[in-house]
Amino acid sequence: MTVEDPFAHLHDEDYAAAFSRDWAGAGSLVDPGGRPVQSLDGEWEMTLDPFDEGLRQRWYALDEAHPENWTVPRDYDPGGADIVPVPSCWNLLRPELKYYEGAVWYVRSFDAAPAPGMRQLLQFGAANYAARVFLNGRFLGAHRGGSTPFTLDATHALVAGKNRLMVHVENRRRDDRVPMSHFDWFNYGGLHRGVGLMQVPALHIRSFAIHLAADRDDAVEVRVALSASVDAGARLRIPELGLDLAVAIVDGVGTARCAAPVALWSPERPRLYDVEIACGRDRVRERIGFRRIATRGTEILLNGTPVRLKGACVHEDDVARGRCTDAADIARRLADIKALGGNFLRLSHYPHDPLVARMADEAGVLLWAEIPVYWAIDFANPDTYADAENQLLELVARDRNRASAILWGVGNENADTDARYRFMAALADAAKRADPTRLVSAACLVNREKFRIEDRLAAKLDVIGLNEYFGWYEPDPNDLLRLLANSDPGKPLLISETGADAVAGLHGAETLLFGEERQAAFYRNQLDILRQFPYVQGMAVWLLYDFRSERRQTRFQRGWNRKGLVAEDKTTRKAAFAALRAAWANW
Ligand code: GCU
Repeated sequence: MTVEDPFAHLHDEDYAAAFSRDWAGAGSLVDPGGRPVQSLDGEWEMTLDPFDEGLRQRWYALDEAHPENWTVPRDYDPGGADIVPVPSCWNLLRPELKYYEGAVWYVRSFDAAPAPGMRQLLQFGAANYAARVFLNGRFLGAHRGGSTPFTLDATHALVAGKNRLMVHVENRRRDDRVPMSHFDWFNYGGLHRGVGLMQVPALHIRSFAIHLAADRDDAVEVRVALSASVDAGARLRIPELGLDLAVAIVDGVGTARCAAPVALWSPERPRLYDVEIACGRDRVRERIGFRRIATRGTEILLNGTPVRLKGACVHEDDVARGRCTDAADIARRLADIKALGGNFLRLSHYPHDPLVARMADEAGVLLWAEIPVYWAIDFANPDTYADAENQLLELVARDRNRASAILWGVGNENADTDARYRFMAALADAAKRADPTRLVSAACLVNREKFRIEDRLAAKLDVIGLNEYFGWYEPDPNDLLRLLANSDPGKPLLISETGADAVAGLHGAETLLFGEERQAAFYRNQLDILRQFPYVQGMAVWLLYDFRSERRQTRFQRGWNRKGLVAEDKTTRKAAFAALRAAWANW
């Protein structure tokens, strides 16, 4: 009888392979659709694992209920770890974890009462960057991409009574990831959005899309996809309109359309309808705004009328909670953009919490949502592309029914190579295929020799984004005038970033670097120039709030990017806030 080698795990450098393929993705995502979810948020145990000992030594195969399984010391102590809240970012939970870039194990027990014939779906809001999930010692699946939701079917591993859920999360920066290892925000790690258990009938609605008909404003279209390729009947109901429409489903998918005298959604009148879709024993409910976003020449049209996007970029960054946000934080963001006289937010540079688009639907704020194809992505790597495309499809699947979401951003400031063009053109095509009802954009490039806005990717986009910092990184603001006069984009142009740093409370002449007056003058100069060019259809200033970035180490920054119109406390407004509001008032 061979004696198991207790040291075998020390020599297995291929330990991660079994947990790094068949990534759970958009194809397995089940839209919560307002169904009841058993929240698993709250107190979890957290154990550091910088060397992935837990995967090597199979910590997930142990549990505190059966210490007799402890045949060898495994360096793990179920029930003996730190207690932390989920959702959270570990960086801000303990001083010694601020800069930790590695793996941790989140572990909790929970009671379940699985009903017969129901599927047990674990829903994760987001885990940065990669998550491996184990339930009662069994590997359920893995997910990569730090800001999009994922669903894992736990039916086969869930038991009635006590269950033990173990999640390995790691936020290692790597050149083949999306984003890659170099970016201008803080690398928070953790289960930074909610976790829950959702029971659905074996045959359930996996996803649905409902919007205005492609050709008319007084008709709606719906597409329903089920969890199995079967024929079935579903019903779409909009009680306020007395609408109760049969949707014939064949091989698991059905579409239908019908006349519907809807009041169109707009920032001025953010009209939402209660919508229900039922199929068999399953039912989803959503609040839906019906609107149309399109382009015509260099104009952006909302419900057929040209709209100017006056907006700001914003990161998910909070002094106390890092990437985590909540309704109060989001309400402040929406109130601040309205206080500026704005109507638009660019949710930089990754998918934000799903609550943002829901609250923007109610508040009447337009959104640009994007995936972190940021700077020097490994564009020649097909697996990197698969990761990027999956994050895009998960974002679209999650927010496709949000009226406020009008633009999908597929990249930001990426040097122009053939590989980059192929990668991002494919992403733009993927966005259009997944969602033909919205516009696609990216922060594009400038041809420095001709000094004009020129990017071959623009042919694949509906709206050209331009990040420009004339008056800050490029000292002469008049170069912006020269660039715009020299360009003829032929499509709507959006200044997708422009801004300058200022330390709140630092005052002086307009020449004082990092002074508030200089930042305020920056915006006055910008608008003096932008308003001369009708093809500029809007802007998203960089940005609403100061945010953490360890790349920024001058005495004025010390790990913060200070281009916020408001300090990191999200209440101290700098002089630029009023200056921008005034400049927008006559644009
Ligand atoms: C870049 C980039 C931002 C960055 C900003 C800055 O354009 O897109 O992510 O924070 O400029 O330099 O502050």
